[in-house]
Amino acid sequence: MKGIVLAGGAGSRLYPLTQVASKQLQPVYDKPMVYYPLTVLIAAGISQICLISTPHDLPRFQQLLGDGNQWGISIEYREQERPAGIAQAFLIAESFIGNDNVTLILGDNIFLGGDAFPRALSEFRSGASIFAYHVNDPQRYGVVEFDAQGQAISLEEKPTQPRSNFAVPGVYLYDNEVVEMARQLKPSIRGELEITDINKDYLNRGKLRVIRMSRGSVWLDSGTSSSLHDASAYVQTIEKRQGVKLGCPEEAALHRGFMTPQQFVSLVNTMPCCEYRDYLQSISGSQFFG
Ligand code: TTP
Repeated sequence: MKGIVLAGGAGSRLYPLTQVASKQLQPVYDKPMVYYPLTVLIAAGISQICLISTPHDLPRFQQLLGDGNQWGISIEYREQERPAGIAQAFLIAESFIGNDNVTLILGDNIFLGGDAFPRALSEFRSGASIFAYHVNDPQRYGVVEFDAQGQAISLEEKPTQPRSNFAVPGVYLYDNEVVEMARQLKPSIRGELEITDINKDYLNRGKLRVIRMSRGSVWLDSGTSSSLHDASAYVQTIEKRQGVKLGCPEEAALHRGFMTPQQFVSLVNTMPCCEYRDYLQSISGSQFFG
């Protein structure tokens, strides 16, 4: 399974913050937003990753994340000229995907706790797997409707009259057919290649699995000033209470065995003195190091 982090877009709702740095480079408490979705992929065992962003912002991501070698993974980069829709990611990253299955995660979606994604990944064989999350304001998202047996029966993008409170979060697993499906897709009225149209296509062919995320699992999107603040406050609260950090790619790479303990220590030693380094150093004294 390969992984795509989609981190382009206009970020207009965060203006003027996004005048100088893209949305996904903004801090969510103590680290850049993109660390969180990246860590979700790494923690689930995905080590071949492609990050897509705007021509303007891509060099900054490259500066931040490099080629991934420091974490024992690989990160490639592709440009999206303009925000022409989430499903365009499969066309932009076609050469990266090759003949593999692919997970797409949005660069401003924050998933904390819960094992819905790693479980779905290990169970994934073919078709598509997406998630459903109960929210207060479903009209802002793709919305999935279930029948009495819990089967998904409809999907709608940003409906004015949502048929349920179940929004579709920004992490999606697809088999390789998704590339051809994206090629056949026509832009929507708003001029975008819609991910919801891809999901509907899988639904109509009986190949869509919709997994309800459990009550208490956390999905935040950080696209507005208020939700960005909420995400930061949430991360701070948990980190302070538990004394662990969330969204640490180094830690996830170590857990997954992408880095050896020795590589981990060497990397930590290159970091300036800060809370982040102190935390990683505290892990060095844990079970990984005997
Ligand atoms: P949105 O939050 O829907 O859009 P945006 O980031 O452009 O923000 P705004 O509405 O404030 O202008 O996008 C969701 C995520 O998907 C976000 O991480 C950006 C990314 N995205 C792309 O990278 N390319 C695209 O074409 C689209 C539509 C979104």
